[in-house]
Amino acid sequence: MLARNRFIMVLVVGVLLAVLSFSLQYLNLIPTNPVAEQRSHSKNRKRVNPVLHTEPPRPDPIRDTHQYCNYPNITEHGWEGHSPADYRLLSVQMMIRHGDRYPLYSIPKTKRPAIDCTLSDKRKPSHPLLASFVNHMALGGRGHWDASLGSLPRLPNHSSCEMGELTQTGVVQHLKNGDHLRQAYIKRHNLLTNDWSPTQLWVETTGKSRTLQSGLAVLFGFLPRFDWSRLTVRQQWSTLFCGSSCDCPARNRYLDQEQRRQYRQRIADAELERTYVAMAKTLVVATKTLRAANPVDALLCHFCHHLPFPCSSTPTATSSPPEGPCLTLQHFAVIRRQQKEDELERREAGIYRRYAVLAAHPYLNRTAARMERIAKGSQIHRGREEAVFALASAHDVTMVPLLSALGLEGAGFPRFAARLVFELWNSPDVKDNGENERKNRGKGSDNMFVRVLYNGEDLTFDTAFCRDHRRSSAQPLCPLWKFLSFVRRDMFNIVNATSYQRACHQTVL
Ligand SMILES: *[C@@H]1O[C@H](CO)[C@@H](O)[C@H](O)[C@H]1NC(C)=O
Ligand SMILES: *[C@@H]1O[C@H](CO)[C@@H](O)[C@H](O)[C@H]1NC(C)=O
Ligand SMILES: *[C@@H]1O[C@H](CO)[C@@H](O)[C@H](O)[C@H]1NC(C)=O
Ligand SMILES: *[C@@H]1O[C@H](CO)[C@@H](O)[C@H](O)[C@H]1NC(C)=O
Repeated sequence: MLARNRFIMVLVVGVLLAVLSFSLQYLNLIPTNPVAEQRSHSKNRKRVNPVLHTEPPRPDPIRDTHQYCNYPNITEHGWEGHSPADYRLLSVQMMIRHGDRYPLYSIPKTKRPAIDCTLSDKRKPSHPLLASFVNHMALGGRGHWDASLGSLPRLPNHSSCEMGELTQTGVVQHLKNGDHLRQAYIKRHNLLTNDWSPTQLWVETTGKSRTLQSGLAVLFGFLPRFDWSRLTVRQQWSTLFCGSSCDCPARNRYLDQEQRRQYRQRIADAELERTYVAMAKTLVVATKTLRAANPVDALLCHFCHHLPFPCSSTPTATSSPPEGPCLTLQHFAVIRRQQKEDELERREAGIYRRYAVLAAHPYLNRTAARMERIAKGSQIHRGREEAVFALASAHDVTMVPLLSALGLEGAGFPRFAARLVFELWNSPDVKDNGENERKNRGKGSDNMFVRVLYNGEDLTFDTAFCRDHRRSSAQPLCPLWKFLSFVRRDMFNIVNATSYQRACHQTVL
């Protein structure tokens, strides 16, 4: 009798424990493998996980858009260059998005926004370095320019902006970024000294004037009046910065899948459809024509420059036609709301993440390789032969996949002049020596650490490769080997592969 009771009790307790453990896992209250979890529980994860602190509590399309504009009247702050005492900064690899630009499309039957793309320190927004930046760019013939870059204008200079041209706001945003980084890296950590060698600086950009000019502005803020003869600017032919590893059929197939998902989501949004119809009616154009002109791009420019939204310019017989009805903030808010929702749905669907891993790998691989070389070389000296500061001047279509591949989708769509930074740090001596970790570490990188910052915010412990790393006083930063093994192998888990080559050439279901 007693034995039977005890048996029942054990059984009951066992069942209770099993239920408890299952529900804890299901609700994600106990940590599980982040990669496996992403595959199986992506829906639940989003609802119950602690929200990334970079994510606003409730989406508000208009407030989000103010962030996106990145008004340069606010002082730039950031946690770049912060580390525990005695750590040595060895290298900084940064990707930027170009600054504020003129629209790439115009809205049919409307006046284009009137924006002056010449640079003048008499006009707002300005920056103390603006005038000397303009003078310095005139000497750019002394620099070394890859491919077609030498023939691009080094400054925006049209009294009426051309399509896609960088504006003065865009230049000022990057002068500010550069100046902030100079305080963080040069003043505080002496990352580059006055006699920096040409090999210590790596600058690459796409062949668009706005990325070239943005790169030069951030560089000028970072190294005012830099010596042109020591500068080489390299061109990346693909917006993915994939160099010679661009061939990846699976990546294109994931992108097709993602675009089909996006299309389905858009046409299912009745409010969005009604809004396009209303906007087209306002402007007296076909809805299809309006949609093809991607009106949100031009409206963003009006919004960020505090210009009234465009009105219909129905031609009349008189010489100065009166303006007709106008597009409104409500129209704009609906499109932005749908864009935000699309971002959330994109994360849940997970197709984009697979695209992103393949799109971002070549850039991450080069970044990882450079950091590893510097880590090894630093045993001798602070590598005068290695690029201790590398700058990639890029586009939103470069940065979005990079953030997604790193597991930082919650960090938000890259605003104008966004910056993503990888810092390499050397700790004074080796402390914690867990067996497991030592096995994984590359030789000579035991005391090497990485930090990842986005717009000045330290997101190291939100990344897919360091999310599960417990901060401890012995290891307050993320070990470099975790980043290296993520880039070289673990990031392909999500596409069931172990290498870039295999992932790119396998069949996509
Ligand atoms: C910066 O400019 C924006 C738009 O012009 C304005 O709304 C905001 O209040 C300004 N912020 C500061 C700190 O001046
Ligand atoms: C801008 O263009 C004008 C004429 O097109 C030229 O006179 C001026 O020197 C240019 N300014 C700069 C800074 O390149
Ligand atoms: C990644 O970098 C390594 C050097 O560290 C190189 O051998 C390899 O080819 C690169 N892979 C890709 C796909 O770019
Ligand atoms: C990876 O493999 C699992 C199990 O075989 C499968 O369910 C999943 O769809 C695969 N993922 C991809 C991206 O192929």
